[in-house]
Amino acid sequence: MVRTTHLMGELESILLATDASEQSKGAAQEAVFTALECQAKLYILYVRTYYPEIPESLSKALEEGIPEETKNFLEKVRDMVTKEGGEAEIIIRDHPEAWRAIVEEAEKLNTDLIITGKRGRTGLKKLFMGSVTEKVVGYAPCKVMVVPKGVKIHGETILVATDGSYYAKKAEKEALSMGKRCSTLKRILALSVAKREEDLPRASKILEAFRELAQEEKLPPRVKLETIEVVGNPANMIVKVAQDEGADLILMGEYGVSGLEKFIMGSTTEKVIGLSKNSAILVVK
Ligand SMILES: Nc1ncnc2c1ncn2[C@@H]1O[C@H](COP(=O)(O)OP(=O)(O)O)[C@@H](O)[C@H]1O
Ligand SMILES: [Mg+2]
Repeated sequence: MVRTTHLMGELESILLATDASEQSKGAAQEAVFTALECQAKLYILYVRTYYPEIPESLSKALEEGIPEETKNFLEKVRDMVTKEGGEAEIIIRDHPEAWRAIVEEAEKLNTDLIITGKRGRTGLKKLFMGSVTEKVVGYAPCKVMVVPKGVKIHGETILVATDGSYYAKKAEKEALSMGKRCSTLKRILALSVAKREEDLPRASKILEAFRELAQEEKLPPRVKLETIEVVGNPANMIVKVAQDEGADLILMGEYGVSGLEKFIMGSTTEKVIGLSKNSAILVVK
């Protein structure tokens, strides 16, 4: 059961946010693997939502209890960890807004990573990603890994997308630190997308700086570092290169403009999460 990737390195605790939907099963699987690999405690959080404007909706939810299949799912996830000797705990919260409860729990428990599905029960096609995921990525106090349905992270090739910004640099550092810690990691692809031909030299500079950083950080020779600069639409290119190169994890920074609800995360990050079907996305904060 235990895989031998060590992608996330030293994590003390992980918060899996799950609505027990089909869509969120990949996230649960990755959470179990990551918790076992990293000997991190796994908190499995299910938020039972209600409408605060309708007081009866809470008492109704309480009365009805947690659906049997949801309970079974949560217990199954927990047991997958505990049977292998790991530590896991189910947390059930009642809250009008799932994302708020998830962010609050991450703060309270001081978790190092939140793992969510890309979509959930509602699965509205017109939305890039589920609204809970979107808000969690934007407001989380720690890294967030978004796992699209059915994605498995083998962790041989990872891609870090960088525009040289403050947050992207954090993602760069995370990629290098994974390179050092994770014995299965073979390739780090660093991608910088120039929107126009004339921006290419800037992209090259960003990647040059990344190569220098890799040297400073003493990336072991086992890990091959490849840098790619291309012209195109950033989100489309990031997803395409990840797909073509078989990178099952994309690292990105989030550059949220504080205060504006509308811009809770950078639009490239949001689009990549929306477009990605075969890679998980780690949003580094
Ligand atoms: N009630 C909830 N409790 C815990 N996690 C949730 C809850 N609702 C959603 N999530 C998390 O957010 C992910 C995306 O769900 P969501 O944003 O609600 O999408 P959708 O609109 O498709 O339902 C889920 O896979 C799950 O990880
Ligand atoms: Mg939902």
